[in-house]
Amino acid sequence: MQKRHESSLAWLDRKLVAGRTLGQVCDEVVTHLRTTFAHYHWVGIYMVEGDRLRLWSWDGPAATEHVDIPLDQGVCGFAASTGDLANVPDVSQDDRYLQCFLGTRSELVVPIRTQRRVYGEIDIDSDRLGAFSADDEAFLSSFCDRLGVLAEREGRVGHAPDRPRARSSRR
Ligand code: SME
Repeated sequence: MQKRHESSLAWLDRKLVAGRTLGQVCDEVVTHLRTTFAHYHWVGIYMVEGDRLRLWSWDGPAATEHVDIPLDQGVCGFAASTGDLANVPDVSQDDRYLQCFLGTRSELVVPIRTQRRVYGEIDIDSDRLGAFSADDEAFLSSFCDRLGVLAEREGRVGHAPDRPRARSSRR
């Protein structure tokens, strides 16, 4: 993991040590990620509420119309329902993709989860093809794991994923 990834995880740890809730930190989290990593052009946090994903926070050049996504739709629904990370290098080649922005070329969706439950996800769009590396995957998985612990501690219900925890599934 790169130094800037470690710094970002340390930033999150400092935020969480203050005892704040996920709802209280999510605005800062999306802004931190978008402004720290140049290829993260749009960053959102979706949380599982019943059988849907609701957009809690976002940062980027424009709002998305997809503020409420059923768990069986989109790359977002795939990641939340299976519990697997989805790294889509070319969104035009992925049938699951729900378009938000004309400029988006690649997308990374990382579940916020624990071993048994998925509570939400971080969704990142990039205007570059194949923008997201294995390093981005590892970093955001660690980042989201911390948020998953927080969500569990807060007693969120989340969703039982289709598959037990897998390390990584690049697609
Ligand atoms: N592209 C996502 C929808 C969310 S927007 O990217 C913000 C999807 O396919 O689920």
